[in-house]
Amino acid sequence: MERVVNLCKRRGFIFPSAEIYGGFRSTYDYGPLGVNMLRNVKDAWWRSMVQMRDDVVGIDAAVLSPGQIWEASGHLATFTDPLVDCRSCHERWRADKIAGTCPNCGSSDLTEPRAFHLMFKTYAGPVEEESALAYLRPETAQGMFVNFLNVVQTARKKPPFGIAQVGKSFRNEITPQNFVFRTREFEQMELEYFVPPGEAEKWFEYWTAERMGWYLDLGIPADRLRLRDHEPDELSHYSTATADVEFLFPWGWDELEGIANRTDFDLRAHAEHSGEKLEYFDQGTGERYVPHVIEPSAGATRTMMAFLIASYSEDEVSGERRVLLRLDPRLSPYQVAVLPLSKNEALEPLCREVLDLVRPLCMCDYDVTQSIGRRYRRQDEIGTPWCVTVDFDSLNDRSVTVRDRDTTAQVRVPISDLTTEITHRLRG
Ligand code: GAP
Repeated sequence: MERVVNLCKRRGFIFPSAEIYGGFRSTYDYGPLGVNMLRNVKDAWWRSMVQMRDDVVGIDAAVLSPGQIWEASGHLATFTDPLVDCRSCHERWRADKIAGTCPNCGSSDLTEPRAFHLMFKTYAGPVEEESALAYLRPETAQGMFVNFLNVVQTARKKPPFGIAQVGKSFRNEITPQNFVFRTREFEQMELEYFVPPGEAEKWFEYWTAERMGWYLDLGIPADRLRLRDHEPDELSHYSTATADVEFLFPWGWDELEGIANRTDFDLRAHAEHSGEKLEYFDQGTGERYVPHVIEPSAGATRTMMAFLIASYSEDEVSGERRVLLRLDPRLSPYQVAVLPLSKNEALEPLCREVLDLVRPLCMCDYDVTQSIGRRYRRQDEIGTPWCVTVDFDSLNDRSVTVRDRDTTAQVRVPISDLTTEITHRLRG
């Protein structure tokens, strides 16, 4: 864990936010490499959940939202965590995450749990009064429910169909911890999949299997991934069944994603509070019903962290220790690094030519500093799957060397074949 956190800081994946002011309460900024990788995680999700399907469409709803949404959804009333104070060292804890003793000082002299509300509030407009209260969304999901009619009418979808969204959510967590695992500002990737009421169980099973497959396909090892059904007392207020996809983090098994059967809870609640009929009318059968919802809900930032941890390895090449991220190329910050063998200016025009060829296909880094061996290590450490090296022979034979991160195997490829070679490798 510590090595991954250090690597993130040292190489520009993730920085503590507002660091020059001493940091800001477990918030983080994504640096030049992190922003590429996080985008790749979200793109991989979007590709599998939206692009490759004809039954799912996307939206991007507002982060700022009126109290009515959260009144209807039940969040204003129930979105709390049980908070306890340690009377000895005055630390605050989530009562459900500690076993009756303070993790800081070991004292069992704790206050009675009290409900702590997790939503961030602000005021919309110039006057700070009750009627101007607005909330930062604690989940992206409600954006899909309140747009249900808009999407049904404009996208002409018929259940079973889904609405997907990726975006920021905010929770005033009592104990943000474990790097970006639990933060107050984070990104979610959520699908609300609307189905005829009798089909909910079938689709719950379907999405559970789909989502497990997504993590495995992108390289999470099977022995670090498991499904865990929620106990009845763990279920959210809207759910009748939830299965968590869990990853084996350095501190033990913990949640990456929840797949919930939200029934017709949200559509009914919004219909009641807004006065709009949130139903589906099947013109073929003349049937009118409130769809039930299956919701696979994943954290993008948390998932990125799991990919970093799962891919982190150390090995030895030619007697030298190296650190590498064995990331799936679809997730790596850069897919290709173009490296001149030396700083000699004679190599630069051909390097530029190679970059111009490969850049339209994927993210490329261009690195001229230090020895070629050091530059290979630097690319291994950030998970770049292929280094393309331009050497002095390249000037005559118009070929380059393509080096593989994991095996360190090198092959010579004519520049005229390079785009085909990289395209082929990108497709896996
Ligand atoms: N719409 C359902 C929902 O929000 P959740 O289990 O509270 O369900 C879904 O959140 C996912 O969002 C979690 O599995 C986790 O990956 C991510 N998540 C939730 N709270 C988080 C936090 N404070 N920091 C980072 N990720 C978080």
